[in-house]
Parts: sequence; structure tokens; C-alpha cells
Amino acid sequence: MATVTPLKWWICMYLSTYLTLNLVVSTTTTNNGAPKKTYIVHIDISSIPPSFNNHIDWYTSLINSVTLSPNQFLTTENEQRVMYMYHSAFHGMAVRLTEEEAEKLEDINGVVGVLPEVKYELHTTRSPMFLGLETQDITSVWSDKLTDHDVVVGVLDTGIWPESPSFNDSGFTTVPSHWKGACEVGRGFQKHHCNKKIVGARAFYRGYEAATGSINEQKEYKSPRDQDGHGTHTAATVAGSPVHGANLLGFAYGTARGMSPGARIAAYKVCWAGGCFSSDILSAVDKAVEDGVNVMSISLGGGVSSYHRDSLSIAAFGAMEKGVFISCSAGNGGPDPVSLTNVSPWITTVGASTMDRDFPGSVKLGSGLTFKGVSLYKGRRNLSPKRMYPMVYTGSNSSSPDPGSLCLEGTLDPHVVAGKIVICDRGISPRVQKGQVVKEAGGIGMILSNTAANGEELVADCHLLPAVAVGEKEGKLIKQYAMRDPKPTGNLAFYGTKLGIRPSPVVAAFSSRGPNFISLEILKPDLVAPGVNILAAWTGDTGPSSLETDRRRVGFNILSGTSMSCPHVSGVAALLKARHPDWSPAAIKSALMTTAYIHDNTYKPLMDSSTGGPSSPYDHGAGHINPVRAVDPGLIYDIGAQDYFDFLCTQGLTRTQLVVFAKFSNRTCQHSLSGPSDLNYPAISVVFPEDKRVSVVTVHRTVTNVGPPTSNYHVVISQFKGVDVKVEPSVLKFSKKYEKVSYKVTLITKGRQTAPESGALIWKDGVHRVRSPVVVTWLSPL
Ligand SMILES: *[C@@H]1O[C@H](CO)[C@@H](O)[C@H](O)[C@H]1NC(C)=O
Ligand SMILES: *[C@@H]1O[C@H](CO)[C@@H](O)[C@H](O)[C@H]1NC(C)=O
Ligand SMILES: *[C@@H]1O[C@H](CO)[C@@H](O)[C@H](O)[C@H]1NC(C)=O
Repeated sequence: MATVTPLKWWICMYLSTYLTLNLVVSTTTTNNGAPKKTYIVHIDISSIPPSFNNHIDWYTSLINSVTLSPNQFLTTENEQRVMYMYHSAFHGMAVRLTEEEAEKLEDINGVVGVLPEVKYELHTTRSPMFLGLETQDITSVWSDKLTDHDVVVGVLDTGIWPESPSFNDSGFTTVPSHWKGACEVGRGFQKHHCNKKIVGARAFYRGYEAATGSINEQKEYKSPRDQDGHGTHTAATVAGSPVHGANLLGFAYGTARGMSPGARIAAYKVCWAGGCFSSDILSAVDKAVEDGVNVMSISLGGGVSSYHRDSLSIAAFGAMEKGVFISCSAGNGGPDPVSLTNVSPWITTVGASTMDRDFPGSVKLGSGLTFKGVSLYKGRRNLSPKRMYPMVYTGSNSSSPDPGSLCLEGTLDPHVVAGKIVICDRGISPRVQKGQVVKEAGGIGMILSNTAANGEELVADCHLLPAVAVGEKEGKLIKQYAMRDPKPTGNLAFYGTKLGIRPSPVVAAFSSRGPNFISLEILKPDLVAPGVNILAAWTGDTGPSSLETDRRRVGFNILSGTSMSCPHVSGVAALLKARHPDWSPAAIKSALMTTAYIHDNTYKPLMDSSTGGPSSPYDHGAGHINPVRAVDPGLIYDIGAQDYFDFLCTQGLTRTQLVVFAKFSNRTCQHSLSGPSDLNYPAISVVFPEDKRVSVVTVHRTVTNVGPPTSNYHVVISQFKGVDVKVEPSVLKFSKKYEKVSYKVTLITKGRQTAPESGALIWKDGVHRVRSPVVVTWLSPL
């Protein structure tokens, strides 16, 4: 059982970190001087007055009613205000409005929400880093014979580099007949760049251009072509074809392949050099639904304030209603608690963990001591192993980093650092950039030291000069030596790729943490998957360090972030969809969650890299994905769109706020849940209110048999300090496939705990093991 920080502290964390949304402030000015911004307008289509023939006329009249004075006629300027209309995942439009116009619009009948444009960010740590586990244990079990050829995964990202061998369509059959997508052309991207693997490619930039100005077409491809590399990397992780001999400068040599090598890819480019904007992202979700994607992979996120104010959450709801499985990255805000994004229950929220692969390096000091670190350096500037080189630390205090030690641009004096190995502290500037600063000042090597913010989690990068990254403790000792010794010396060594690292997996320190502040009753993240030092295809347009000065070009790159773990889950979901075409998005998620494991390769509980201790469900959710078992989960917890809607009905939303989600299907609250914990989620999170008189909470679950027709499951439940847990019935008997059986869990407080307690509820039939994490929280009176 793991314990986590008490609730009050999270609330402070939440208030300090999450109330500052990245609202986009870029504005243009109207005739009367008031600045305009992009707003996402959500519309209840069922309110369309009978006088309108079609919704486009109605939308136009809605805009006119707030932008024109009574006697004015429609102008072209006014028409251009509408940037997108959304029809598939939700109804609405993206419009340029002044604040005053937006306020007026919100009050008009039929308008259910007017949300300002939000800037999202990619969830990668940007530069390669290392640690690692081999993807082999996930991919090698997948035979190419799987009929995953008809599943299309939409990847919302920075576009795609179609020439990569990871998108080779050799052996693929014709494009599935359900596919209605398109191959949009533009600079560097022609029709022939789509094939039977990349079946669709589109670019969305109206929101981006409205916020940041026109795209400079000399510098950026205004087309689906990927300049950045991130989108190519995530798409290849989802569904890359096998490529033998893939590596980054010799590191991580082997066969690179996506999780679902037979699935098709549709690239939706929504992120540009200046960021990703919600109106573009929403248009991509909307189009992807219309195009017929089966799975959507979204490795980006923004602030979360509530389900109904989060446009991505609303669009994802619509996509889920149409049967699309959506996996999103949890964010790289860890190890701070309550740092998650993309927490809606209909989204699969993915955290990151390490693999059992590492790229060791070492630092040898003149004092005789040697420290271990990591490195992806491979180049001609190698240091001679026989010599010791002068070393320097430009900071003034080895225990706390100071500005002089960060190796920021323009801060290193060539007279001080030339010909030396320079010690730099992590922080402020990108890690690879520090290497560049050292190199430009004449340094011959770099030791990159973690600070308290990163602890012992090692991040290595594809630096431009010999460099080794070390943990905080090692860094402190190295810095002390460099400051005390009158003539400090050292050397760096590199040992290539090492497999079989123990323990692994370990939850990455950067992986965003729960709880889900919007509803404690929905445990988030849902899962963790490999997200540290992932090798996958790369753009031919940018070097592996992403630095402009990096002239190296590589076919594959090693990246880290929840951006990398999300496509692992999207790819496995595509495999499950191929195996079980009739499964709902919730069924696929349930299979992934109930078969996840929470032990590492030393048979100990999954560790948290930030503490070195065991991780909790707020770090790893249901655990680490286990694709082999997910194919045959035995039982699933299914959830339909109406169930999710009924969950929203428990969230204190107003009628208008609920309509944002109900617009397609004209839903009303069926009041089928006694509370939010009652949603048929594959995880159970129970909250005892501040009122101490409430000592019993009951939750209900219904499982569907997807295993052998006749089976009996027995329950196993962990012991808790604070509650007695009763499960009724304790045996579930099935006599046919798809039979549904319900059970009830009663939790009785025997002693309120200050920290949440976690455990598990497991159904076993001798073959399958259907595990749900259980978290119990007692709210303390504030
Ligand atoms: C695609 O794969 C096939 C079969 O492995 C191979 O023969 C062909 O050369 C590859 N094409 C490219 C462009 O790499
Ligand atoms: C170094 O930093 C530590 C921790 O912030 C501090 O306690 C100590 O006083 C500092 N020492 C000097 C010499 O500045
Ligand atoms: C929506 O539901 C209400 C009540 O169930 C019904 O009267 C109405 O006709 C429905 N509207 C549409 C557009 O389906």
C-alpha cells in the first residue's frame, strides 16, 4: 500500500499551478479599435430556429447579431471572422471576436459555450535523453499476421516525414473502404507522399496564423510535412513498419517498429514552430472523426480547468460517441502532484516510464573517483582515454545552482573555459543548448549535473560535444572537487547501449501526477507506457538535438516524454481494435487497464524515479501496459456515451454546460449513477466527505464476459488500514459470451486516514486476472 500527500497540499499546488491557463493573447484590431481574439463557439444544434434552412446560415446570423449594428449589412470582413466550422465531433465554430462580442454571443439562445483560444504544447522533453527499457518485450510478441490493416490511427502532431522507411507500405493491401480522408498537398508534400501506410495527411493553421501572423513559407512547410520531427516520431511509434538496423549514431541499434506495424496512419498537422492552437486541434479532431479514424493519438496538452471549459475534452467526447478511441499524453509536469492534463474519463491518459535500456557514460576525476552517468554522444571530438583534462565549474556554490553555473548563452568566458571540461547545472535553458554554449566558448567536454529539481533521474542527449549527464548527488561531489582542488582534472567515457537494466520499468520523474483534481473519483493517469529514450523515425529537416546549429541528419532519434508514451498506447489500442472490431473505446481502455502490471523486472513494486520509492496509482494509474494480456482480458468494464454523460450529470454542471456534451444525441440526465464513483470505470476511487458521519460508501460495477462462455471469477481484495471492503457477490458466474454481471463494493471506514490509501480489487478465473486499482480518500475539513 502506498501513501501520498494529503489533500490540502494538492489544493495549494492546484491553485498555484493550474489557475494560470495559457490563454492566447495575440490579437488583431477591429475598425473600432477593440482587439479581436479567436474564440471556440459551441452550439446546441437542436436549438436551430425553424426559419433557417441550414446551420451555416444560422451560425452566420449568430455572428452578425453580435458584430453588426442593426442597419449594417454583412461584410467580407465579417465573413472572414469565421475560421472553422465544426460538424463531426461537436457543433460550433472558431471565430475572431472582441471580448465584448464574445460576451454578447454567450447570452444568445443556442450558444452553449464561448471559450477563448488556448495554446497547447507538445509533451516531449524535446531532446533525446536516456534510461530505458527495450520495446522488444512489447513488440516482439506481435506477429505481422494480425489483421490490423483496416485500422486507421489519426496522429495529431507536427506532421510527418513521408520518406522515412518507417512508413514503407510494402505488403499493404488497398486502403480500407471506410476511409474517407484526404492527402492535402502543399510545400514539400505532394499526393504521392501518401501511400497505403500514410493514408491521410492534413494541415490546420488558421488558428495559428490568426494568433501569430502568417506562416513564413520559406522557413516553415505550410503542409503536412514535418519539420520538427516530433510528429514523425510519434506516428512511427504508433504504427511504423519494421526497419532493420535502425539506430541513432549507433545507439539503440536494432529493429524499429511501431506498436501496430500493420495499422494505417493519418497525419493531422496541428503544431507549428510557434505552438499548437485549440481551434486548429479541434478542427483536426472534427475532420479525423469525419475521415473515419478508429484511434486518435494526441501527444499534447494545455491547462485543465473543467470538463466543459476544455475544448479538447468536449471534442473528444464527440469522437468517443462515434466509437473513436482517444489516447492523450498525461503531461511532463511531474513529479509535482496534480500536474495532469487531459483527464476526462473518456480519454485514455498516459504517463511515462523507463525501459530496460540505458546509454551509460562515466566521469573520472583527478582525485581518482569515478561517477556513473549517461550519454548519447558519438562523434569525432572524442577525448583521449589516456589523458586527464582540466575541468572547471563556473558556479560559486556546489550545493545550489547559481546563474553562473547554468551555461546560459553569453555567460561563459572563453578565457576561463577554453580547452576544459565544463560542469553545467540543469535548468532554464535546454540541455543540448548548454552543450552548444560550452562548445562555442571553446570547452572540450561537458558534465551536465542534475539539481534538486531533477534528483537522480538521468537525461542524456545527443550533444554536439562529449558530454555526460549525472545525478544530483554525483553532481554535487564533482562540483565540490572542482571548487576545492586548485587544479581539477577529469575525463569522460562512453559505453554505448546497455540492455537488461534493473529495475525497470520505473515511473519517470517528469511524468505528470494525479490526482485528477476535477473529480477525485476518476483515477488518473490511466496507465504508464514507455516514454524514456524511445528510438523512432525522425525528420530529415532537423538534427537530433533540434538545435539550428546541428548539421547532423539522422533517420532515427531518441526522445523522451509522455508524448512518446501516448503513441505506445494508441498503437496497442489499434491492435486491440483489429482483434476486436466490435469493442467500444471504453472496452479497449478497460482491457489495457485491467491487465496492466505494477511490478518491475526485479518483481518489486513499480518504483517512482523521483523518490526512489514505490510509486502510487497517482503516478502509474492502473500500471504499465501489457499488450499480450490486453488482447485477452477475460472481463471488461464497458461504458457507453450515455454513462459518461450521466457521470457529467454528477459534476454539478448547469443545464447549458451539459448541453455542450449532449448536442449530438440530444441526451438528458438519466440519473443512472448514485455518484461519480459509480461510473463503470476500470479503476475505483472512493472519496469520503469531510462529514465524519458518512462512514459507508457503496459503488457499483458491471463486467462483461469477453473470455470463455462458461467461467467463474473469484474476487481478491487488498487489506486497507482505513476501511473494510466488502464485495458482493464474491463469485461471478458466466454462462455465455458478452454476458454482463454486476457487483457491489461497500467500503466502511474504520479509521479515517490523512493520506489516501491504495490497493486493488482483482477478479480471477484461474487464467485471467482482472485488476482494478482502488484508491480511498478521506477529505479533511478545510
Ligand atoms: C520497402 O520495403 C520493401 C520490403 O521490405 C523493400 O524491398 C523496399 O526497398 C522498401 N522501400 C523503401 C523505399 O525503403
Ligand atoms: C550554498 O547553498 C546552500 C543551499 O542553498 C546554502 O545553505 C549555503 O549557505 C550556500 N553557501 C554559500 C557559500 O553561498
Ligand atoms: C430530443 O429529445 C426530446 C425529449 O426526449 C424530444 O422531444 C425531441 O424531439 C428530441 N429532439 C431531437 C432533435 O431529437
